[in-house]
Amino acid sequence: MHIKKLSLVNFKNYSELSVDLHNKVNCFVGNNGVGKTNLLDAVYYLCMCKSYFQVSDQYSIRQNQEFMVLQGTFHLNNQQDELYCGLKVGKRKQFRKNKKEYQRLSDHIGRYPVVMVSPSDSALIIEGSEERRKYMNAVISQFDRNYLEETIKYNKVLTQRNKYLKELGGRTSGNDLLEIYNNQLIPLAENIHKTRTRFVDELTKVFQNYYSLISQEKEQVSLEYASQLNDNKYGDLLRKFYQKDLAAQYTCMGIHKDELILKMNDLPIKKIGSQGQQKTFLVALKLAQFDFLKTVKEIKPILLLDDIFDKFDVDRVAQILELVADESFGQIFITHTNEERMRKLLSNFHGSHKLFKVDSGQVTSLKP
Ligand SMILES: Nc1ncnc2c1ncn2[C@@H]1O[C@H](COP(=O)(O)OP(=O)(O)OP(=O)(O)O)[C@@H](O)[C@H]1O
Ligand SMILES: [Mg+2]
Repeated sequence: MHIKKLSLVNFKNYSELSVDLHNKVNCFVGNNGVGKTNLLDAVYYLCMCKSYFQVSDQYSIRQNQEFMVLQGTFHLNNQQDELYCGLKVGKRKQFRKNKKEYQRLSDHIGRYPVVMVSPSDSALIIEGSEERRKYMNAVISQFDRNYLEETIKYNKVLTQRNKYLKELGGRTSGNDLLEIYNNQLIPLAENIHKTRTRFVDELTKVFQNYYSLISQEKEQVSLEYASQLNDNKYGDLLRKFYQKDLAAQYTCMGIHKDELILKMNDLPIKKIGSQGQQKTFLVALKLAQFDFLKTVKEIKPILLLDDIFDKFDVDRVAQILELVADESFGQIFITHTNEERMRKLLSNFHGSHKLFKVDSGQVTSLKP
C-alpha cells in the first residue's frame, strides 16, 4: 500500500499544500518547527481518522481558521482510493472514501494500516500504565474491530459502574444494578484479556528479533503482560473485591488495571536503559508492530519514521536503514533536521527515494 498524493488545507501550520510522493522512501528535511512532523501526522490522520498527537481535533485546524481538509490518493490492492477528511470548528468530522461518507469512523480504522515512530513514543516507557494500555488498544484495534468495540463497551460500563459505586457512597447496594454491570463486564474483560495475551505473545518474538538486529545482540529485551486476570476468573475477582469496591467507590479489579512491562536484561527499561537503548527498544517494538499488522492484514503498512536517527550511533542508524529498505517494508516517510546528514545516509542506501525540503509550510522536491 502507498499514498501517491497528499493535499492539505489549513492543517496545523500548512495553509495549502499538495505533494506527489514516492512509493518507497520519502525523506523530509528542514529546520525545527517547519512542519515535518505535521506532514507525517497528516498521513497518519488519513489512515486512523485522528492525529497521532492530540486528543482534541481542534488543534489540527490551522490557528484562526474555521476548517481543515486532508486528502490522499491511496493505492491498495491494485486499486486507487481517494480519502477525504473535512473538519469544521464545532462540527462533526466528515470522512469519505471515493466520495462516499463512512457511517462510522471505526469502519475506516485499520483499512489503511500505518505505523508511526515518533520521539513522543518515549511516553510509552516513561509514563504510567495507561500509556501502554492505550498502545495495546491502538495496535490491536487496527486489525481486530471486535476488540475495538469491546474496549469501547467495557469502558462505558465501567464508567457507569464507578458512577453507581460513588452514588452508593460506601453503602451496600439495595438492588441488582452492580450484578447487572458485572454480568456485562465479565465477558468483555475475558475477551479483551485473551486478545491482549495472544497479541503480546506474538509481538514479543518479532520484537526480540528486531532488537537484536538493530543492537547487534548487545542487550536482552522482553515484554510481559501483567493482568489481574492472568491467574483469576474476572467474576471471582469482582465477588472477592466487592467490599473493597464499595469502600473505594471505584472498580479495583479489571483489565483497566493491566500493565505491559517493558524489560531490558530482566529489569524495567525505564530504570536501567540508556536513551539510545530506550529508543532502540521503541523502534524495535514499532517494527514488530509493523510485521504483525502486515501478517494479519496482508498489506504492508505505511511506516512513518519521525526524527528517528536522533540519539542513535552510526551502527544502529545503518542497521535500521538497511532493515527498512528491504522488500518486506513498503512506503516509508523519514524526517531529519539536517539535509547534509540525510544525504550522507542516503548515499549508502540502495533503495529508490525522493528527498523534500520543508520550509515553513512549503514543501519542495530536491534533486537526490
Ligand atoms: N493548529 C495549528 N495552527 C498553526 N500552526 C500550528 C498548529 N499546530 C502546530 N502548528 C505549528 O507547526 C509547527 C510545528 O510543526 P512540526 O512539529 O511539524 O515541526 P517539525 O518540522 O517536525 O520540527 P522539529 O524538527 O522541531 O520536530 C510549529 O511552528 C507550530 O506552531
Ligand atoms: Mg518534528
